[in-house]
Amino acid sequence: MYRLTEEQKKRVSDLLSQMTLEEKIGQMNQISPSIVGGFDVSFPELIEMVGDGRISHDEFARIMNTVQRDYREDDIRAGRVGSMMIQDPVKMNELQKIAVEESRLGIPLISGLDVIHGFRSVYPIAIAEAGAFDTDLFERTAHMAAKESRTQGVAWHFAPMIDVARDSRWGRVSEGPGEDPYLASEFARAKIHGLQGDMSSHENYVAACTKHYVAYGACESGRDYNTTSMAKSQLHNVYLPPFKAAMEAGAATAMASFNDLNGVPCTVNAYTLRKILKETYGLKGFVVSDANAIRECVTHGIAQDDMDAGIQAAKAGLDMDMGTEIYSTYLPQAVAEHKVSMEVIDEAVERILSVKMWLGLFDHPYITEETMHRYDELPKAHTDLALEAARKSVVLLKNEGNILPLKKSQKISLVGTLADMKEEIIGAWAMSWQQKDCVTILDGLKNAGADVSYYPCGGPEGDLNLDEIAAAGNDGDVIVAVVGELVSMSGEAASKADITLSGRQREMLERLLSYKKPVVAVLMNGRPLALSWESENVPAIVEGWHLGIQMGNAIADILLGNYNPTGKLAASFPYVTGQCPLYYNHPSTGRPGSGSKFTSRYLDAPFEALYPFGYGLSYTAFEYSEMKVEENEDALEIHVKVANTGSVSGTETVQLYMQDVTASIVRPVKELKGFAKVALAAGETADVVLTLPKNKMGFYDDDMNYCLENGKFNIFVGGNSRECLKTQVDVEF
Ligand code: NOJ
Repeated sequence: MYRLTEEQKKRVSDLLSQMTLEEKIGQMNQISPSIVGGFDVSFPELIEMVGDGRISHDEFARIMNTVQRDYREDDIRAGRVGSMMIQDPVKMNELQKIAVEESRLGIPLISGLDVIHGFRSVYPIAIAEAGAFDTDLFERTAHMAAKESRTQGVAWHFAPMIDVARDSRWGRVSEGPGEDPYLASEFARAKIHGLQGDMSSHENYVAACTKHYVAYGACESGRDYNTTSMAKSQLHNVYLPPFKAAMEAGAATAMASFNDLNGVPCTVNAYTLRKILKETYGLKGFVVSDANAIRECVTHGIAQDDMDAGIQAAKAGLDMDMGTEIYSTYLPQAVAEHKVSMEVIDEAVERILSVKMWLGLFDHPYITEETMHRYDELPKAHTDLALEAARKSVVLLKNEGNILPLKKSQKISLVGTLADMKEEIIGAWAMSWQQKDCVTILDGLKNAGADVSYYPCGGPEGDLNLDEIAAAGNDGDVIVAVVGELVSMSGEAASKADITLSGRQREMLERLLSYKKPVVAVLMNGRPLALSWESENVPAIVEGWHLGIQMGNAIADILLGNYNPTGKLAASFPYVTGQCPLYYNHPSTGRPGSGSKFTSRYLDAPFEALYPFGYGLSYTAFEYSEMKVEENEDALEIHVKVANTGSVSGTETVQLYMQDVTASIVRPVKELKGFAKVALAAGETADVVLTLPKNKMGFYDDDMNYCLENGKFNIFVGGNSRECLKTQVDVEF
């Protein structure tokens, strides 16, 4: 975990005492290689051209591969750069050599990257993986990503992304662990352990960067970068817990988010950065801004110019500037004019040097040839883990008439362009992937020996091929239609005002259904979708998300019954987009939604989720009975019998929820407080015991006091957040 030895601390303070002001501020400066020369259009326009389809992603990649870059060797030599965002290991070694051997004090650079769900082996996107409800898995995939990226000189991951997010219009719900603070906290803790925990060699760990700090997931109307505003109790009860958990687990760094929170951008927010993160949670490492965010404080209208923004950010506790060079340009003058104190600079630099020291960068600044090529071919253990993670993340949403699993003898018409697009299975932010490792659903079905014919027919964009639809409809015994979103439709800057299936995909399903054959929809998407039509009309629905390099094999295993689905939803699925934001753990209203008019409901849509948080079917069935709550001095022990009443073995995620019935502030109708996985053979019953520590039954008020209030609590146990057994208890703390 992140802790320096006395000797390391001494090395840091010795170094600090020798540094000039310029060298210190250099450590606070993170840059990326800049592009030399121009294009026929401006760079922002070029980016827009990719966005609106004027040039293809391949064309853009080709342009970017041929442009000349300025790696700022002179600035590195002069000690004016502390961190570099770069993915090229050979270049990184060269730059590191300049920093270590040619700069006055030989301080190594730290290289950071967005390794969000795997590096060389790409795993499921976070919202999918969170649905595995498997902390051991969360930890192992993070550890693998750390080991892989370290071979390329990347010692710092801009991950985990642990924004609680409840509005599926926001494209970035794909990057995080969903709508629930408890699950997100478990996810955060496990990811920190996985990234930072194995210090047996410097090659086995990286520094985590928890992000986006904080409340970014609450952006108004799900529109990216938009404002956030909430009571402090809401902040502390919902959005901060994953960060608190990550800090308790020893996270080394954090990234301030783009949004303003209650009127103060998180980049310059002394309350969240200094008071909460550093003083209360005890972050020992440093805070980096998000890209360009210091400059954006001028656009936010909170700083009058770049210098003012830099001064505010430094004073608020933001230690490293990502991408604007405002710190390196203006902080020397700001210090000279006593607008920023030397203590602020020293604190930031000490934090940054400490992380570099802890990572072993001073002693092992370079990567060797051997390391660099260690994972040119992916070892089996890595693909096995990618397959395990992918299988565990799939959620079976509907299975009318037990269409699934398919029989091996059934001939499959596989439909949808998404079924055979290698680049579409890996999800947003998969930076270091190789197409040769990507197994599409078509590949996966073929690998599994299925009798499959493929008809692209149509996808998230563009036209339908009616001839192919007819051929698919006439051909197979069963139709598997892969529908959903392109990778570019979720992730950063990918908010949507309509989260139903895009393009003509619904029409494609409708046409396929007209052949009166069983139709299975396999979804590939980065956010919960509004599926009211599909849930009514398509007999079987499999939520496949963007599962990473082994997606095809995992989906084939599920469709063919080689793996019994275990995944659950980490975020509620609405019937219609207008229900967003939608989450199971909403505060109690005075008029809970019901069939009668003057209640908290819509005239034209249900008020509840179509598929609620924690929901997911299996090829078997589980029955809950004999719930009992026993109380001891420190905890409630919840006992329940869970029986596998079907004819195949399966694994259930038993979920524990609680409701504080009466409290001094309005509390959620239900809150997840624990979960356990039980594997049961057909016909088997298990006694499951879940423990709810009493000191976890409270909540924060607006003054940041954690309140444990005596009184009645409803305790719920079940296989999803809606269908639970319930017992009421009186608890005294
Ligand atoms: C912007 C994104 O918000 C953040 O998640 C990412 O880490 C940085 N850019 C760096 O790429």
